Amino acid sequence: MPRGFFITFEGGEGAGKSTQIRLLADSLRADGHAVVVTREPGGSPGAEAVRHVLLSGAAEPFGASMEAILFAAARLDHVEQVIRPALARGAVVLCDRFVDSSRVYQGVTGGLDRKFMTALEQVTVKDAMPDLTIILDIDPEEGLRRAAARRGEAGADRFEKETLQIHRRRRKAFLDIARKETGRCVVVDATGSPADVARVIARAVAKAMPADGQDESRRGAGHV
Ligand code: TYD
Repeated sequence: MPRGFFITFEGGEGAGKSTQIRLLADSLRADGHAVVVTREPGGSPGAEAVRHVLLSGAAEPFGASMEAILFAAARLDHVEQVIRPALARGAVVLCDRFVDSSRVYQGVTGGLDRKFMTALEQVTVKDAMPDLTIILDIDPEEGLRRAAARRGEAGADRFEKETLQIHRRRRKAFLDIARKETGRCVVVDATGSPADVARVIARAVAKAMPADGQDESRRGAGHV
């Protein structure tokens, strides 16, 4: 079966994920790739229905496990309805947040048991793990400033409004994942200009993505 290439973007609030996804999608399309841009929570009709429940804070009073299961339910629908079919068609899938956000937000700062999180991951992601994960790294103080400037008058969402200390723990948790999974993850400093950050990302993608017809087993950030 032909399989495309699955790239996820992770990091704290205001790291510039959506801008970078747009720039990468444009450049991959210009190179002739079929590209699917998507996001979590959401990305499919079923998952978008759950998105509002999560980001409005409606599920917050019911606890971190409930939220984690809702993120997982949204992910299952998104993987089955959008990501897996796109990869089967040979597309490059660019996803704004994925399973590492659950590991960090629900697992680490939500204080949930690792076994519980692993079980959710196994039933939702299965073999659809990203080939490459770009972790956009930024000081949370700067990231939250950027996120506030972006949203203007609108209030912070359920997760943005948490304390700086929690955002710092999330930054460390993303970096810990990158250290453990060097074959999949690349950390990119997100403080530069969008064009500079895009150049670094483009290099990481070019290294990790197999050229057409190249041996499938060489795919992934660790095989560069
Ligand atoms: P959103 O406004 O989509 O995006 P972003 O912060 O990436 O610009 O917000 C999504 C929020 O949901 C964000 O605060 C991270 C959080 N989240 C989780 O807690 N767990 C998850 O599994 C995912 C995918 C997101």
